[in-house]
Amino acid sequence: MADMQNQVQAEQARKKQALIQTLLKNAHIPPRFEQACFESYQPVNAQARQCLAVCQRYAEHWPTRRAQGGGLVLCGRPGTGKNHLAVSMAKSLIQTHQASVLLTGALQMIRAVKNTWSKTAEKTETQVIQDYARPDLLVIDELGVQFGSDTEKIILFEILNTRYEQLKPSVLISNLAPAEMADCIGERVMDRMQEGGGGTLAFTWGSYRQQKSQCV
Ligand SMILES: Nc1ncnc2c1ncn2[C@@H]1O[C@H](COP(=O)(O)OP(=O)(O)OP(=O)(O)O)[C@@H](O)[C@H]1O
Ligand SMILES: [Mg+2]
Repeated sequence: MADMQNQVQAEQARKKQALIQTLLKNAHIPPRFEQACFESYQPVNAQARQCLAVCQRYAEHWPTRRAQGGGLVLCGRPGTGKNHLAVSMAKSLIQTHQASVLLTGALQMIRAVKNTWSKTAEKTETQVIQDYARPDLLVIDELGVQFGSDTEKIILFEILNTRYEQLKPSVLISNLAPAEMADCIGERVMDRMQEGGGGTLAFTWGSYRQQKSQCV
């Protein structure tokens, strides 16, 4: 009897590990950040410590965040660890909750939608928008680099609003200052990001990349 229970438990553990591996693969975590985790993030100053704490809390409180659709905006200067912390959250959600996560760049996402407008496109625009609406968490990097045209703003709004209506959280990453974000990606997108316990973190200090290269 105990043997049978052990076998069932072992089989469940194996299935869970296989699911985690599939979710990690589908998340599209760039190789550079595969090793990134909360433990390796150095709280280089009080603000960085606070950003780390908020991201850790976000991951710890995922079931509530997921239920309320609360996202996060990580914005500020280069090399301050915005991607490092976003990947840390993604990995934690996958490992602890087997959540589905997708990391993408804003340009890549807009290109994927625009590609559907060609006659030879394999997917329809609705299908591509659904691909971005499906994951439990969508992380969009490099917002603000390209956003000039109204078309691009409309595509971003369409995707984020679809997720918003389905109470699905999104994380936005940008080099813009919080005040510039609304201008660039649209006030309605930013406004939606603040709901469901969402918030904006500002990364205002110097680059860790330069600090790292001085150590070598
Ligand atoms: N506080 C930190 N502790 C440990 N590693 C860090 C820290 N901040 C950044 N890093 C590391 O420095 C590198 C750059 O960080 P990352 O790419 O996350 O920055 P970013 O804020 O997204 O920058 P950018 O705005 O230029 O895209 C990565 O290798 C990351 O792991
Ligand atoms: Mg980055």
